[in-house]
Amino acid sequence: MSTPLYDALNSYAAKKTLRFHMPGHKGKFLPGPGLEALAAVDVTELPGTGNLYEAGEPFDSAQGLWAELFGFDHCQFLTGGSTMGIHTGLALCAQPGSKVLIDRACHRAVFHALALLDLEPVYLERTWRKEDNLIGPILPEDVKKKLDRNPDIKTVCITSPTYAGMLSDIREISHMVHAYGGKLFVDGAHGAHLFFLGNRLDWDVDALVVSAHKTLPAMGQSALLFTNWMEVDRVRQMASVYGSSSPSYPMMASLDTARQWLVEGGRFGYVRASKRVAQLRERFPSVRDGDSLDPCRFVLKVKDGPAFGGQLREQGIFPEMEDSGHVVFICTAQDNEEDFDRLEAVLETLEDGMGDCIPIPPPPLPKRVLSPRNALFAASRRRSLDQCEGEISACQIAPYPPGVPVVVPGEQIGKKELAYLREIGYNMQSEVRVIGGEPNGMGK
Ligand SMILES: Cc1ncc(COP(=O)(O)O)c(C=O)c1O
Repeated sequence: MSTPLYDALNSYAAKKTLRFHMPGHKGKFLPGPGLEALAAVDVTELPGTGNLYEAGEPFDSAQGLWAELFGFDHCQFLTGGSTMGIHTGLALCAQPGSKVLIDRACHRAVFHALALLDLEPVYLERTWRKEDNLIGPILPEDVKKKLDRNPDIKTVCITSPTYAGMLSDIREISHMVHAYGGKLFVDGAHGAHLFFLGNRLDWDVDALVVSAHKTLPAMGQSALLFTNWMEVDRVRQMASVYGSSSPSYPMMASLDTARQWLVEGGRFGYVRASKRVAQLRERFPSVRDGDSLDPCRFVLKVKDGPAFGGQLREQGIFPEMEDSGHVVFICTAQDNEEDFDRLEAVLETLEDGMGDCIPIPPPPLPKRVLSPRNALFAASRRRSLDQCEGEISACQIAPYPPGVPVVVPGEQIGKKELAYLREIGYNMQSEVRVIGGEPNGMGK
């Protein structure tokens, strides 16, 4: 067993020291049955337990084992999810104020990073898969066209896989970006487990973030940022800009133990899960696309997503999310045969609700009026979305999940955007922020 961080925490706990340091539970007491077991290893930076943002043990070994496994120069543990990894990764890959090529279907954290770093986005639109009512992969030739037209772009950011499990050809895209002298940052938040299904992730990208907590047996918010060709000290420094100075040790220890469990055989559970997903795809109308789809993501096609999701929950089955025409199930090594049998049995009772929904149009590309930064920090006021035609958004309008914005700060909320939001069932009475009003939302 090689779990350097977890071992260091246990060895400190075993010493039964008198703890006059943080956290306030002193290793003795966390109210609530089931939580108390965590207290002993929930420590702080001490001799022996190391510092996440500095060189030294046990982090060098614990992170080094992950880096070696995935074939990267360095792995940085993160306690703020892929959200923190996106901010850190983009700060490392892009010069503040520079022009960047951004997958339009990126998570909202990317759009926040654009504003904080004052980046100038050029958007990469995705193909629209009419047959599935879904966005498809990013095509390498589309990346090439944009880079040809914008030779000043030196940073590219792409999400792979998407929430629905759609994979892009990252190896090909990465060769192309490098040939243009750029850096590629990949948001692989949903794909940590792919490596354990034999999809190597060492695609020669500059940085890759994965949310360990989404698909691996690791604690909520734990994530991993992998980097190549970067000064490690700089990676740690940037991570510390976006992370807490008191990162959670149990969370980080769970990254350590998850890796060990996976390499000791846990990974075979993903192969088993992927076989059951393949059977579900055969049995029910679903998104299926051989090589470019995460084998563990089951995306069921339904006529009315919210209604279908409600029926599932009534029977005790909670999927990851639903939109108007799909229900997304995250499947992992922890879903055993009985779990899949139960899901299948319930789905058999709901077949009437399955099939193609009313066709969804591809998302529009709104007109940009202000830069993401100027819009995010501009004076703004709240307004009901259905009264916003012609207004300039000061916030992201993003159905969550998947958290992919339809309108981002600085873009105009036009007729077509409102029609699209209505069509996908967005709550048109919800309030959004638009440009105008008091600075920093001080007005009523
Ligand atoms: C594509 C994508 N990237 C990043 C994130 C943020 O990840 P986290 O929740 O680990 O911060 C999400 C969250 O759902 C996501 O879907």
